[in-house]
Amino acid sequence: MIPTIEWDAKTRTVKLIDQTKLPGHLEYITASTHAEIGRIIKNMNIRGAPAIGVAAAFGMVLAAQENQNQNFEHFIKSMHQAANLLKNTRPTAINLFWAIKRMLKIIPAEKSDIEQITERLLEEALQMWQEDINCNKAIGKHGASLLSDNDVVLTHCNAGSLATVLYGTALAPIRWAIEEEKKKIEVIADETRPRLQGARLTAWELNYDKIPVKIETDNTAGLLMRKGLVQKIIVGADRIVSDAVFNKIGTYMLAIVAKYHNIPFYVAAPSSTLALEQKESDVIIEQRDGQFEVAKIMGIATKPIAPNGVECINFAFDATPMELVTAIITEDGVFSPKELLAHYL
Ligand code: MRU
Repeated sequence: MIPTIEWDAKTRTVKLIDQTKLPGHLEYITASTHAEIGRIIKNMNIRGAPAIGVAAAFGMVLAAQENQNQNFEHFIKSMHQAANLLKNTRPTAINLFWAIKRMLKIIPAEKSDIEQITERLLEEALQMWQEDINCNKAIGKHGASLLSDNDVVLTHCNAGSLATVLYGTALAPIRWAIEEEKKKIEVIADETRPRLQGARLTAWELNYDKIPVKIETDNTAGLLMRKGLVQKIIVGADRIVSDAVFNKIGTYMLAIVAKYHNIPFYVAAPSSTLALEQKESDVIIEQRDGQFEVAKIMGIATKPIAPNGVECINFAFDATPMELVTAIITEDGVFSPKELLAHYL
């Protein structure tokens, strides 16, 4: 495991793993402006709800650095413009909006020293960075209690270390069960069309940490459940509202099949992913460029897999109704959907 995103104190820039290059190459991108962070989030060089939240927080620090020599009014205006640019990158994961809101709260309304505000913003972003790791470890510890020795756990997309600062959410209970409790656990990762986060990222990071993993095409999951080859499912979340869990497209189908086969379906996410005052109909599901992602594999023009120009449907996420969710694992414990509302509302 290596951190997905880091603040470089010497150059005062942000260093991120370029996830579009994995699994082939472990390469880094350095961002020195908030606009670069915006592009990096939009193009999915960094992705995963908690990771884009922390990236946006550092984006706000960069915005403050870019506006050191402005007068206070101009500084405030520029910070709000930067916040809007960052918010307009990806609409579904709540962590992005949560992080930006938290950063804006740091900025005082009355005239103050810009350098001091910038340092406070940096402290807040670094705190979010550390909190993310702490939350994930706590999710791991709580979630590991749900896993038994020799379980095969199915996961969808990548809700691992790469989707967070470190350690992951859905992969955290697996990591904890193996590393701290010495349980034998195997992982099956859905490849997760169209962006292949399961095949490219989940398999890469588990391989890197020598955790047994197999990948399957998304449409194999039902057969494996029918054959009794999967004991538990754990997925992450981009937003958890009162009546549904938003996560990578395909999660809903998995949850239905799991219910039919009586396989526990767990969602692991930090409390920063909760938006329990909202309901399913309040959420915008991101739709991405289908010509790039669906009609081709990862935009590779030499490998079209559909007739030129055919219309593509490309929702990035779906909503799984709460009645299909066995439990939600947060840094505070394991909750049934009802208990979650009682605890956090
Ligand atoms: O489109 P992505 O790759 O950002 O989608 C990521 C997911 O759907 C993850 O499961 C979710 O963000 C949880 S990450 C801990």
